[in-house]
Amino acid sequence: MSKKLSTRHLIGIKDITADDIRLIFETADNFKEVINRPIKKVPSLRDITVANIFFESSTRTRISFELAERRLSADIVNFAASSSSVSKGETLLDTVNNILAMKVDMVVMRHPAPGACVYLSQRIPANVVNAGDGTHEHPTQALLDAFSIREKLADVAGKNVAIIGDILHSRVALSNVFCLLKLGAKVRVCGPPTLIPHHYRELGVEVSYDVRDTLRWCDVANVLRIQLERQDIKYFPSLREYHQYFGITRQMLDELDREIVIMHPGPINRGVELSSDVADSPHSIILQQVENGVAIRMAVLYLLAAQEQLSA
Ligand code: NCD
Repeated sequence: MSKKLSTRHLIGIKDITADDIRLIFETADNFKEVINRPIKKVPSLRDITVANIFFESSTRTRISFELAERRLSADIVNFAASSSSVSKGETLLDTVNNILAMKVDMVVMRHPAPGACVYLSQRIPANVVNAGDGTHEHPTQALLDAFSIREKLADVAGKNVAIIGDILHSRVALSNVFCLLKLGAKVRVCGPPTLIPHHYRELGVEVSYDVRDTLRWCDVANVLRIQLERQDIKYFPSLREYHQYFGITRQMLDELDREIVIMHPGPINRGVELSSDVADSPHSIILQQVENGVAIRMAVLYLLAAQEQLSA
C-alpha cells in the first residue's frame, strides 16, 4: 500500500480510494496511541499554519480539528463567519485570499453551500479539508465513523450498516455511503420516504422505510438527526410522530436476538431519533466516535502535510 494519499485536498470520500482510507486508518491507529499518552503532543506540523474557517455552527467538529492541530503542534488561526467580515458582504474568495496573505498552509472549512470547498481548492494554493459543505459531504465524519466500526467489530468489510434518519439533508449520510461501500460493507438507508432521495438506490445501497426490519438486518445503526434548520417545507407531520415511527428505543433493541452497535455523529436530539436510554446504553459507541475523531483528523492533516513535502 502506498504511504501517500492520492489527493492534495480532502473534499469528499467520493474522490479518494480505499487505499487512501486504509492509510488514514493506519496513521490514525498510531495517533490514537499518542493521544492516550501522558504527553499528547508530537511536533509533526510544527512549521505549518492551519486556518479553521467555519461559516456554519459547529461544536464537535471545530473543537476536534483544533485539538488535532494542537496535538500536531501546528499554528492555528480561527475564523468564525458570524464574527468576521463575511457579515459585511465580503465574498468567500476575498476572505480566503486575505487569510492566505497571512501565509496559511492549510484551510479547514465548513460552509453551508455544497461545493464551497471544491471551489476554494481550485483557487488557492493551500490544502483544503472539508469540514462539511451544506448537504454534500463531511468526509472526516465518515472516516471516524468507519474507523469506529473497524475498532468495535474488527473490520468494516462484510458488515451490514444501516444509516437511519434524515438522509435527504445529511452530508454525513452521503460521505458514509461512499466510505462504507469502498470498504466492502453492505449499506441500507432507512427513514420516511420524504427524507430519502431517489438517487440513493443508484449509489448501490438498499432503501427501507421500516426501522424495525432494518434493526433486525444490521450489525451497526448510524442514527442521524432531523436537520430542521435545512428544511423549508414539512417532510413529516411532527417530531413526536417521527419518534413514534422512526425513533429507536431500548425496547426495540431488547427485542432483537443479538446486540447491535448504535452510532450517532451528534448533536443528538434525545427523544426524537434516539431515546436517552439508547444513547447512554452499552450498545452506543457515540463517545468513542468523538475520541476517534481527533485521531482521524490528526491523520488527515499529517498525511496532507507529508504529501506536500514528498512532492516538493
Ligand atoms: C453533523 C454535521 O454537522 O453534519 N454533525 C457533526 O459534524 N458532528 C450532523 C448534524 O449536524 O446532525
